[in-house]
Amino acid sequence: MLLETPVVYAVGTTYQIMFYLKAPAYASVRIGTQTFDDAVCGNLRSMPGMRRITVPQEALDSAGKYTVCLERIKKRVPYRTKTRGSFSFDYSFSPVPKKDVRAYMLGDAHEDLKNAIKAANVFAPFDFLIVNGDMAETKNKKQALLAYRLAASLTGGTKPVVYARGNHENRGAFAELLPQYVPVQNGETYYTFRLGGIWGVVLDCGEDKADSHEEYGGAARFHEFRLRQTEFLRRVIADADCEFAAPDVTHRICVVHAEFPRVQEPPFDIERELFREWCDLLGEMGVELILSAHMHSYQYLLPGDKDLRLKISCPLLVGTSKSGDLVGGSGLTFQSGGIAICLSASAGNVTACK
Ligand SMILES: [Fe+2]
Repeated sequence: MLLETPVVYAVGTTYQIMFYLKAPAYASVRIGTQTFDDAVCGNLRSMPGMRRITVPQEALDSAGKYTVCLERIKKRVPYRTKTRGSFSFDYSFSPVPKKDVRAYMLGDAHEDLKNAIKAANVFAPFDFLIVNGDMAETKNKKQALLAYRLAASLTGGTKPVVYARGNHENRGAFAELLPQYVPVQNGETYYTFRLGGIWGVVLDCGEDKADSHEEYGGAARFHEFRLRQTEFLRRVIADADCEFAAPDVTHRICVVHAEFPRVQEPPFDIERELFREWCDLLGEMGVELILSAHMHSYQYLLPGDKDLRLKISCPLLVGTSKSGDLVGGSGLTFQSGGIAICLSASAGNVTACK
């Protein structure tokens, strides 16, 4: 019935529990005595495909387990639909601990899940996973499912995952359906999240060249999309007490696939003024580390570095690498004095970064 285990994505103060059904079924998630149905406007969903059931973080964190309940459908008809048996799948769940949190960030796997998993396992165990874009282009459903399959393989539905879309996910006929396969808030791929004392903001630069670039064949409208994110960032600041300034927040991070504050050569030198404002707004939030990918090679830039085109108030980590069949990512340890970073690769090597 299930293609993989569920994946538990962190969005806002909720978890979006996502799983892919291979056959028609009603679905719900049970946590303790509470049941969360997969319904749309009062109608239970029954079609096969990707499902998303949103639950409060508090409920799952305190229960430490959840059950995916499925009721198979014989045939959905206008009158007296018959079901053909119930199934349930139990999963344990470990919320992010209060201190000394270990996280692993992957990105730029470009379909090489095997080596991405190897790189993460060099650093494992970790408390949560960050999937930072460019798992694949999105020509078809199989590619749209890759981020989910990677996250399911590495977490088994037992720990939280943070997802940020990469520019390559915008390419292909299935790209417009990708938001059904990844975590979103109000239909958009940018949002804030909380995991224990860690507060984060996920941003999405969209494509890496101007919307008018011939590569996009007229399909790109990312300028408007970025403008909406500027408004979103301003709203987050207006709601500071419930976001980054909440009393129990100990770390603030930004996860974004493209390393937009870095020097860019044409045709990648887009949105200078808009991205300058994003940097200022992230500074106002007290973000202590920007976590990026996209370049396929590591770089750690401190404010004022000559390789930056924009002024930032915290370090920028380009924390993924890809070269042939070598895939690398970043192991992050959130401690009281800051965030320790090491880099691990599918070849098995680990390098201390900071
Ligand atoms: Fe990229």
